Amino acid sequence: MEGPQGVHVECDGSRLINFCSNDYLGLANHPSVVAACKRGVDSYGVGSGASHLVCGHGKAHHALEEELAEFTGRERALLFSTGYMANLGVISALLDRGDWIFEDRLNHASLVDGGLLSGARLKRYAHGDAAALQNSVSACPGASKLIASDGVFSMDGDLAPLPALAAIARESDGWLLIDDAHGLGVVGEKGRGALEHYAMSQDEVSVLVGTLGKAFGTFGAFVAGSEELIEMLIQTARSYIYTTALPPAIAEATRASLRLVQAETWRRDRLGYLVQRFRSGAHALGCTLLPSETPIQPVLMGDNRRALEASEHLLRRGFLVGAIRPPTVPEGAARLRITFSASHEEAHVDALLDALDSLPFAGMANVDPLCDAPAIE
Ligand SMILES: Cc1ncc(COP(=O)(O)O)c(C=O)c1O
Repeated sequence: MEGPQGVHVECDGSRLINFCSNDYLGLANHPSVVAACKRGVDSYGVGSGASHLVCGHGKAHHALEEELAEFTGRERALLFSTGYMANLGVISALLDRGDWIFEDRLNHASLVDGGLLSGARLKRYAHGDAAALQNSVSACPGASKLIASDGVFSMDGDLAPLPALAAIARESDGWLLIDDAHGLGVVGEKGRGALEHYAMSQDEVSVLVGTLGKAFGTFGAFVAGSEELIEMLIQTARSYIYTTALPPAIAEATRASLRLVQAETWRRDRLGYLVQRFRSGAHALGCTLLPSETPIQPVLMGDNRRALEASEHLLRRGFLVGAIRPPTVPEGAARLRITFSASHEEAHVDALLDALDSLPFAGMANVDPLCDAPAIE
């Protein structure tokens, strides 16, 4: 890739229309975000110099943490350098060997790896299936429990059944961790993510993880929750303690993007419109879509070769769309992961639909839906 992220990208000398970025709101190269980053560099230089607990924690980090806590309606928020590290840190801080962790089968790899690192006993339940989770939790009495799920699933785009997960967590006296990497900024009228969609509070979802490299268009991540949770993480989350703090200019850039996320509601409205336009067009073409209302719109291809051929065909037509294959998704569920940005225009969507229509093989609709595909174990 050459040049900035955007609807149009330069890749190996070709100008392509990008349909695979997580820059859902089009903020990664927004002038206000870029200007805030430059001002941040002028004020703070480039490097943070050390970990947060040594001398890396600056005013910019602190201000961003306070603003993220307010945005998510939680007592406090704590910055991590990446979402991957946030999940490793928080899960291994909450659980020990002998505890239980319950995870949706389609959870992001960082949640699975956090569970493995913690040494807790890991149980995976069928995707979005609260009854299966309930059975699994009931069969594991005693010890501390944590239920962990994506809020919006990263490769499928659907929402987790949060109210049902919260009820099971409450009854079993366990923690509920929701990683809303793909919901924050995008879902809900105010962009507060899957929790806003279900009108749920800190009491119902005790641990909220958010990432800043997707809808916020910058880099980094945070955990938000009670005062007690955040203090515990500061003392014990090793991926918070033993790593260099984010560059403060990135924190300044994120403060600017958080203001845009909140003020420019038209970006979410536009995404909703583009997604509906795409879905009705793709449906008419016979594409196998998944039940997603979010900017993540997978088109199932089934086998890997077919997904790769489709991606290459689109590339030749000037579209950048990734072919996502196992182990990122279950065997037999390879797909084009098409994502939308508020910066796309109707004409881009229509051109993509034309290109999908020209795929050199028929029968996209004959692929089994994901729910029938074998799960990753
Ligand atoms: C659900 C989910 N959680 C965590 C991450 C990791 O975030 P980061 O890229 O900031 O490490 C991702 C994606 O990369 C994700 O999709």
